Amino acid sequence: MISGRTGLACVIGHPVRHSLSPVLMNTAFASAGLDLVYTAFEVAPGAADQALDAMRTLGISGMNVTMPHKQQVFASVDELDPAAVALGAVNCVAPIGNGRLRGHNTDGAGFVDSLRLDADFDPAGRSTVVLGAGGAARAIVDALARAGAARVVVVNRTESSAHEAARLAGSVGSVGGLAEVAAAELVVNATSVGMGTAELPIDADVLHAGQLVADIVYHPLITALLGQARSRGAATLDGLGMLVHQAARAVELWTGTRPDHRAMRAAAEAELAARAAAS
Ligand code: ATR
Repeated sequence: MISGRTGLACVIGHPVRHSLSPVLMNTAFASAGLDLVYTAFEVAPGAADQALDAMRTLGISGMNVTMPHKQQVFASVDELDPAAVALGAVNCVAPIGNGRLRGHNTDGAGFVDSLRLDADFDPAGRSTVVLGAGGAARAIVDALARAGAARVVVVNRTESSAHEAARLAGSVGSVGGLAEVAAAELVVNATSVGMGTAELPIDADVLHAGQLVADIVYHPLITALLGQARSRGAATLDGLGMLVHQAARAVELWTGTRPDHRAMRAAAEAELAARAAAS
């Protein structure tokens, strides 16, 4: 029941109507018995600061931030967590009292949670490869290094951005190619290749049993890369887990309560299936 005491959380973005976050978050709130509702606000490019002012004025309990506002919110909040500082981007804002707002980046930690909880894979001491050097790839590179990976090798079409991304991993970061993919214990596709298509980001012949192959693309859930990896005996992890766990971390930051990630995942899968059936 929504009452005068019900709190509001939201996502801002442009475009944002397609976001799965309202389904994930309302499931999280309901399963944890939290008196909160979550919705999406279309915020025009350049208007993120007004959205932060509205958050303060209205007492909004939590805000997620997606494209194109992640850098502007990074520049405008009052405090930042270490991942947001490293990445120059914020995906989650939490009120910390006296009208002050703290910006977080939960994407990379959400990916590592998915590795641990959905694939039973701890990256500590492991040899890892990240394909791609965009925002999502950088978050994962940063988080793998924070989680203690022994090597984080970035493989990207454009080598200059590969070097920039690899720097986030400090002394365990480097730039490589297919030889490093073949030698890795974990291979993560963090490019957009395979989203809605059967394209592969790399030659799948280098993949083999004994590796975990993860994709951040979740449309389709089993991408061409994951299908090829499975057929070669590798373990696989789909991209929905990162979305679920970054959201679960946001709920924990806002409320102190760790939500039921399995219920969130089930709701997201049902929503994706309903969308596929409707299209
Ligand atoms: P996001 O911020 O969502 O992670 P992005 O910044 O657009 O997305 O990054 C997309 C990533 O996918 C980049 O690493 C990009 O490679 P480049 O740095 O060379 O542009 C990679 N990518 C996109 N399309 C690609 C393609 N067709 N082949 C190889 N890599 C591709």
